[in-house]
Amino acid sequence: ETNQQWGGRFAAGPSAVMQEINASIAFDQKLWRQDIRGSLAHAAMLAKVGIISAEDERAIAEGLTTIAAEIEAGRFPFTEALEDIHMNIEARLTERIGEAGKRLHTGRSRNDQVATDFRLWVRDAIDGLDAQVVDLMRALADRAAAHAADPMPGFTHLQTAQPVTFGHHLLAYVEMLARDRGRLADCRKRLNECPLGVAALAGTSFPLDREATAAALGFDRPAANSLDAVSDRDFALEFLATAAISAMHLSRLAEEVVIWCSAPYRFIRLSDAYTTGSSIMPQKRNPDAAELVRAKTGRVTGALVGLLTVMKGLPLAYAKDTQEDKEPVFDAAGAWALSLAAMAGMVRDMTPDKARMRDFAGSGFATATDLADWLVRVLKLPFRTAHHVTGRLVAAAEAKGVDLSGLSLAEMQAEEPGITADVFSVLTVDASVASRTVYGGTAPVNVAKQAAKWQAALA
Ligand code: ARG
Repeated sequence: ETNQQWGGRFAAGPSAVMQEINASIAFDQKLWRQDIRGSLAHAAMLAKVGIISAEDERAIAEGLTTIAAEIEAGRFPFTEALEDIHMNIEARLTERIGEAGKRLHTGRSRNDQVATDFRLWVRDAIDGLDAQVVDLMRALADRAAAHAADPMPGFTHLQTAQPVTFGHHLLAYVEMLARDRGRLADCRKRLNECPLGVAALAGTSFPLDREATAAALGFDRPAANSLDAVSDRDFALEFLATAAISAMHLSRLAEEVVIWCSAPYRFIRLSDAYTTGSSIMPQKRNPDAAELVRAKTGRVTGALVGLLTVMKGLPLAYAKDTQEDKEPVFDAAGAWALSLAAMAGMVRDMTPDKARMRDFAGSGFATATDLADWLVRVLKLPFRTAHHVTGRLVAAAEAKGVDLSGLSLAEMQAEEPGITADVFSVLTVDASVASRTVYGGTAPVNVAKQAAKWQAALA
């Protein structure tokens, strides 16, 4: 049986495999809301410019509303023979309302239709994801405010470097997520042009009011070039690039959560709600949610690379290749959304072991830089010299099996005679973090201020 929507010039139906490879209904059903929104706007415009009657428009609008209810209720008879969501809905409309349904596609092609639907879908996804990013930022800012003065070891090369505060560390992720929001906003701004009304590729001879459909669908303007309008998928790529960068940020935090939960660290503890057990090792409490957030980054990055690869080398204008744009975007949006939710949950759930973090913050000669800075500030040694002297003191402490504050004044003076007992005041963790008051530094006063700023901005 030939396709009822385009089968006029065909004598026979597709082979089973042709139908299977061609159909997208299994995944583009997800676009049903956007497809109906787009069709309602198109029909209203057709009536407004006098291409269809007001009566037909009413029948179309009623029919589409009934179909929306049918889909919502899970009672819509989706069929693979009708390929995609657009033809499934249009065929059903004609089945219900007759001739008027057949007029809906006037001056429209599935090429501008799908480009419009997909933009609407991505725009809706952006709005939902932005709200989720904000929620995670709030969770982080709240914890940062509570731990603005609690020290933890800061690392470079994952080696103990200098003490920082736990609040400062959490706010680093708030900065990253704020940039992710900026990328989402940028992407939304650029995608917000409406392809509807350019038809297949060349535009149409019907006197369509493209400004009207663009405005009705919340777009800023109609797309200016018909060829570009049907073939551009930059908006999907920008969305995926934003998703990939943000998923990478979540993955870094997830990796830290995994490290912080591990037995040698035990900086934080996740409750039963965010951990799982082992089927053989009774003692285990595994941070699976964090591991899965870390892993889902792979799918999101894969989606970006996958769609870039689909798009490269496609001649203008539409080619069926672009039907492959949807699954990566749906999958990446879902993975990103779930990761954001899981991460917000973990951030709110975790219990930091403040005493243990403070302990570790002071170990590993973490305040060696403070000692060198003291030599520069008080004894006026050149920094390079101070660095060398401090290095000798670290070696002496290491040989003695103590931390820097475990050296006696005499032992210190053996390396640098000018050292006085005052030096011990800069070797504590609290003195170290408190001294880092430069803008952007980890001093508790700074961190409290930044956390409050974010809490207010996100409220
Ligand atoms: N399902 C198709 C897609 O997602 C709709 C557009 C079909 N257009 C065409 N000329 N065959 O791209």
